[in-house]
Amino acid sequence: MNTNEKYDFVKNSLQKKYSFFAGILTTCEEMLDATWKNELVSDLERMFGAVEGQEFAKALDGYVEFSIDAAKNQQYYLKHDHYKSSNFSEVKKELYDNEEHMLGNYLPGMLVSHYIWPHHYKMGKRYRNEIMPWVKKKNPSLFVEVGTGSAMYSKLTMLALETINGIGYDISPHSVTFGKRVAEAFGFSNRFKFVQQDAFQNPPKDKADFVVSQEVLEHLEDPLTFCKNLCNILKDDGCAYITAAITAAHSDHIYLFKSPKELSSMLEEAGFRSVLEIEEASIDTRVPEKTPRIAGHLLVKA
Ligand SMILES: C[S@@+](CC[C@H](N)C(=O)[O-])C[C@H]1O[C@@H](n2cnc3c(N)ncnc32)[C@H](O)[C@@H]1O
Repeated sequence: MNTNEKYDFVKNSLQKKYSFFAGILTTCEEMLDATWKNELVSDLERMFGAVEGQEFAKALDGYVEFSIDAAKNQQYYLKHDHYKSSNFSEVKKELYDNEEHMLGNYLPGMLVSHYIWPHHYKMGKRYRNEIMPWVKKKNPSLFVEVGTGSAMYSKLTMLALETINGIGYDISPHSVTFGKRVAEAFGFSNRFKFVQQDAFQNPPKDKADFVVSQEVLEHLEDPLTFCKNLCNILKDDGCAYITAAITAAHSDHIYLFKSPKELSSMLEEAGFRSVLEIEEASIDTRVPEKTPRIAGHLLVKA
C-alpha cells in the first residue's frame, strides 16, 4: 500500500468501528497541510507497526478512549465550572500507576491525538517550525523534559536537535516504559534517558540548557511551585518551553487555567520572561469562552 492507501485504511477502520470519531479526519484533510497525512502514516506505523496490524488497531482504540475521556470531563467542567478531579495522589493511584490505563489506552491515545486533533498537531508543527530553530541557535547540549507522557515532545526535540543529550522525568513507570519504546522507534535512545521520578525530589545535578514541560501544569495541585522548580533546573542563559491546557478537561486534569493570561502570569511569577507565545484552540467551539486550548511559551530567565 502507498501512503494514501494506508491513510484510507486508517480512516475506514475508524469509520467502521467508531463512525462518530471518523469525521475529524475529514476536518484534518481540509485544515492541515500536505505533509500531515505522510506524518500520520509514517510516524504511527513506526510506533505501532503496519496500519492493518493489531497494535495499530489498539492504538486507534486508545485514541477513541482518550477522546471520550476528554468529552465526558469537558461536559462535567461545563456544568460545574471546575474539573472533576482535584487530588493529585488519587489521580496518580488510579491513573498514572495503572498499567492497563496508561499502556492500554492513555499513552497510545495521547500520541495518536497529536496527529488527529488539529490543535495538537498544529502545536507540534509550530514547535518544530517556530520554537526549535530559536533553540537550535543557542547550541544547547543538555535537554531536560519533565512529565514526558507519550514522549511526543521528547521525540520532536531529539529529532530537531541532532547532537543534544536529554533526560526525561515522569512519575509514572508506564510513561517511562512507553517513552523508551518511542525512543527506540525513532532512533534517539542512545542520547536520551527516561527516569521514573519526580524531577524535583532529586533534581538533576547538571543544570539544563533547554527545559521542556508540555501539558503537565494542569495535572498538578501547585503548578506555580512546579514552574519555579523548572526555572531552578535551568542554566542562567538557558531557555525553556512550557505549555498548559486551558479550559480543557480530562480525567487527570486538576488545575484549571481559565485563560492564557493566567498561564503567562504564573510563568512570570516563577522567574521566566516569555520570548514567544503560541496558542491553538480545539475545533470544538460549541461553548466559545470554554473552548479547549493549549498555550505554550518559549522562555528565558527574567
Ligand atoms: C499529559 S502527560 C504530558 C504530555 C506529554 N508531554 C505528551 O506530549 O504526551 C502528563 C504526564 O505528566 C506526568 N506527571 C504528572 N505529574 C508529574 C510530576 N510531578 N513529575 C513528573 N511527571 C509528572 C504524568 O505521569 C503524565 O505522564
